[in-house]
Amino acid sequence: GRARADALVLFGITGDLAEKMVLPALYGLVSQGFALGPVIGVTRSAWSLDRLRAHVREAVSEHGTVDGGALDELLGLLRVARVDYSDPGSFQSIAREAEGCRVLAHYLALPPDLYESAARCLSEAGLSENSRLVVEKPFGHDLESARALQAELTKYFPDEAIRRVDHYLGKESVENLLTFRAANTMIDTILHRNHVRGVQLTAAENFDVADRGGFYDATGCLRDVVQNHLLQTLAYFVMDTPRSGSPEDVLAERTRALRSIRTVLPEDYINGQYEGYLATEGVAPDSTTDTYAALRLYVDTDRWAGVPFTLRAGKSLAVSATELAVEFNRPVAGYHHTVCAQKAAPNLMRLHFEPHAGVTFQVLARRGADETVVDELTNKLDFPHLSRSRPYEHVLAAAVTGDPTRFSTMEAITECWRVVSELLPAPFAPISYAPGTWGPPEAARLTSDESWHAPQVP
Ligand code: BG6
Repeated sequence: GRARADALVLFGITGDLAEKMVLPALYGLVSQGFALGPVIGVTRSAWSLDRLRAHVREAVSEHGTVDGGALDELLGLLRVARVDYSDPGSFQSIAREAEGCRVLAHYLALPPDLYESAARCLSEAGLSENSRLVVEKPFGHDLESARALQAELTKYFPDEAIRRVDHYLGKESVENLLTFRAANTMIDTILHRNHVRGVQLTAAENFDVADRGGFYDATGCLRDVVQNHLLQTLAYFVMDTPRSGSPEDVLAERTRALRSIRTVLPEDYINGQYEGYLATEGVAPDSTTDTYAALRLYVDTDRWAGVPFTLRAGKSLAVSATELAVEFNRPVAGYHHTVCAQKAAPNLMRLHFEPHAGVTFQVLARRGADETVVDELTNKLDFPHLSRSRPYEHVLAAAVTGDPTRFSTMEAITECWRVVSELLPAPFAPISYAPGTWGPPEAARLTSDESWHAPQVP
């Protein structure tokens, strides 16, 4: 499952995901000089190569300035194959285009209900040997369906050859959670239950579900971003430092971290739905789908036992930002207490992922003559290189090179579904919230001080 692929077989090349994410990322890779073999676009439609090239040109151009040379290079790599998912014989079209290539990376940018047919047809057409199968999220709808999907796919591809996409694992600002701790012992030392009062992780979006009503209504916020992206991000924060940077060691520690997260209890969960959601095209008129989810969880490791971690995500919130805030213990008694009694602000360290990566420290310092008057000061360090990260480029590059680090293992996915298993289906109807706000105020009770640290955006 680790050999470099000679060709990328891109299923769903005419679809939405390819247009928005995969094709711009492929262009990005080519323009950086990444060695890419033939790109075989697979579609059910009768598209000519010229039509596909025009489509790719357009998708790429919509995403910023384009260097003609790199675009021509990408267009030159394109091939097209037409298939019918109910007819394995039709997959010979892919075999013809892949003539001479030994290792294929099959990237399924497809609706999940086609994963199994695609895998089966590939295998029957003799295209699974030596090759990889890359599947997009969502991987299953819950624990049981994820296991069933895994059982189906492994009939045709061994587990080592399957890559499950979670594009947060392609974000350098997320991976940096581990690097930052490992490189800064002064920080890593205090990230411990003895010093930390609580941790908050927020992934807020200030836009609604737009034209994705059909997909979103069947999914909801918990499944769309919390079960996967937020739990994987949290794993990068709480995991023990791996023995080495090898894929085996990193994957093992990241997965072990997920295994130590306790299953969330229904009383530690708040779901919300923004006003107006029901009028979205593709959404059921009486839908109880969550567009906001907040939960509190605990990590049963020596380092983190007893510390509350509060996670929240949602659409139509006040801002678009992703951030992790670590709140440190308050001064407890005597002199310390007198000094700080008049300021409620705790020491905070905020790790910002998006829109701008960086870290902010919030401390208290004496103002002047009166020893009990302190000011709250904050200082931000930017991580400018991490703000320009393009996760899909890393995901696609890893699909081609075979590096498993930037994908989810089946065990990780299983653990993530287990963590939210008691919240599926939602134990209660969602609380309605006004678009542009921070969601249901009830969720504040899940945090250590009944208040959220709103992510800062410039
Ligand atoms: C996707 C979800 O996986 O992640 C979307 O389906 C969400 O609903 C997106 O908007 C968020 O990704 P990012 O990289 O913009 O934080």
